[in-house]
Amino acid sequence: MKVNKAEIVISAVSEKQYPKDRWPEIALAGRSNVGKSSFINKLINRKNLARTSSKPGKTQTLNFYNINDAFYFVDVPGYGYAKVSKKEREKWGKMMEEYFSLRDTLRLTVLIVDIRHKPTEDDVMMYDFLKYYEIPVLVIATKLDKIPKNKKATHLKRVIDTLELDSEDSVIPFSAETSEGKEHVWSYLSNYLK
Ligand code: GTP
Ligand code: MG
Repeated sequence: MKVNKAEIVISAVSEKQYPKDRWPEIALAGRSNVGKSSFINKLINRKNLARTSSKPGKTQTLNFYNINDAFYFVDVPGYGYAKVSKKEREKWGKMMEEYFSLRDTLRLTVLIVDIRHKPTEDDVMMYDFLKYYEIPVLVIATKLDKIPKNKKATHLKRVIDTLELDSEDSVIPFSAETSEGKEHVWSYLSNYLK
C-alpha cells in the first residue's frame, strides 16, 4: 500500500468524539510498551506520527489516524502495566469496552504480542474479549529482530498455542526495526479494507 496521507484526526476518550465518516477502521491492541505505536509508524513510513516511548503507558487515548482519506488506524493505550492505579485501570476498561462493543466500522483488530515471550494472561484475555465481540484478529508477533532466526518457528507456535488461536485468525512475525513482515501485513490488511 502506498501511503500518501497520514494524519491524526482526534484523540478520543469517548464515543461522542469518534469520527463520523463511515471509513473502515483497523484498531491496535496489546500490552503497554509492546510496540503498537511503532507498528503503525513502520507501516505508514512515519518516524513518530504515533508517539512512541521506551517507557510504558505512552498512549492514553484512542488516537484515530486518517490514512489516505480511505481508512483509520486506531492506536489504543496498552494493558498490563503494573504501576497503574485501580481507577485508571477502570477508566481504560470502560474506554476499550465502549469502543470494541459499539464501533461497527471496525473491520479488524491487530493484536500485538512480543515474539520473545509467551503471551501473558492479559494477552489471552484480550484475545478472548475480541472473539466475544466477533471481531476478526490479526496477531502480530513483533520484535522479531530480538530472537535468533532458528527460534522463530518455536516462538510462533507458542503464541498460537497459548492464545488458542481461531483457525480464521492469523499470526505474522514482524519487526519495526528491520521492517520484516511489513509487506505481508499490508497484503493481509488490504483484504479487510475493501
Ligand atoms: P504504549 O503506548 O505505552 O502502550 O506502548 P506501545 O505498545 O505503543 O509501544 P511503542 O511503540 O511506544 O514501543 C515501545 C518500545 O519498544 C520503544 O522503545 C520501541 O522503540 C520498541 N520497539 C517497538 N517495536 C520494536 C521492534 O520491532 N523491535 C525492537 N527491537 N524494538 C521495538
Ligand atoms: Mg503507544
